[in-house]
Amino acid sequence: MQPMLSTAVKAARRAANIITRASQDTNLLQIQHKDHNDFVTEVDRAAEATIIETLLDAYPNHAILAEESGQQGDSEYQWIIDPLDGTTNFLHGFPQYCISIALVHNGQLEQGVIYDPTRNDLFTASRGQGAFLNDRRIRVSKALKLADALIGTGFPYRDFTHLDTYMGMLRDVLQKSAGVRRPGSAALDLAYVAAGRFDGFWEIGLNKWDIAAGCLLVKEAGGLVGDFQGDDSYIDSGNIVAGTPKVFAQLLQTLAPHVTDALKA
Ligand code: IPD
Ligand code: CA
Ligand code: CA
Repeated sequence: MQPMLSTAVKAARRAANIITRASQDTNLLQIQHKDHNDFVTEVDRAAEATIIETLLDAYPNHAILAEESGQQGDSEYQWIIDPLDGTTNFLHGFPQYCISIALVHNGQLEQGVIYDPTRNDLFTASRGQGAFLNDRRIRVSKALKLADALIGTGFPYRDFTHLDTYMGMLRDVLQKSAGVRRPGSAALDLAYVAAGRFDGFWEIGLNKWDIAAGCLLVKEAGGLVGDFQGDDSYIDSGNIVAGTPKVFAQLLQTLAPHVTDALKA
C-alpha cells in the first residue's frame, strides 16, 4: 500500500474508534444545530481532530480541507476529510455511516479511503492502482441496463431549493430502474458503486468532502463519474452522477429533461 494511503487508513481507524465508542450511547452526546437538519456532535469534531493530527504528524506541510474545521495550510497536497459522513444515521443508531479521507495533489485525486466501522468495510484506492475492499480488488458491476440497475441517491433534506427538480428526477428513475435506495451516507453510496453493490448513484449539491474519496474509488473500479452534463465540474458543484459505464449514460439521459440551468453550472 502507498505510504500516504496507509497513513490515511491509520487516521480513519483512529477516528472509527472514537465513533464506535460513542455509538454505544448516543443519548450522552451533546448535539449542536449547524442549520436546519444539520447536526454536529462532539464526535464529529473529535474524529476530525484525530484524523488531522495523524495526517499532519506524518506530513506536516500538507494542507487540509475538513468539514468541521475548514481549510488550513497551503500546499500542492491537500487532504479532504469528512470525519463522519451520515451523522443523522449515526445519531439515530442507524448503522450506515463512514469516515471519508481523500488526498488531492495539484488538483488531481491521488488517494481515497472510506471506512464503515459498523461492518469493518475498508474501501481504498490509489490513482492508477485500482480500488479495494479489505484488500480484495473491487470493480463496478456488470450492469448494462438501467432497467436492471439498483440506484443509490440522496434526498434534499437541508436545502430545498431543488426539491421539485429532484422529485421529477426521482419519479423517472423509480420507473426506469430496478429500484432506488437512500441509505444516508453519500461517501458510502459511492463506495457501493465501486464495489458493485449499487449500479449507479446521483445527488444534487454535495460537498467536496462527501464525494472526493468516493469518486476516486468509482473511477479506479472502472466506473464513470460526472456532473449532470457528464462533465468534470462535479467536485466543485457537488452535482453528481456515477455508475457503470452503461448505467451512467442511461442515468444521465433519464435525468437530462429535469436539469435546470442552475444545475448546469
Ligand atoms: C450527508 C450525507 C447524506 C447526503 C448529504 C450529506 P453528513 O453528510 O452524505 O447522505 O445526502 O447531502 O451532507 O452531513 O452526514 O456528513
Ligand atoms: Ca458528509
Ligand atoms: Ca460529516
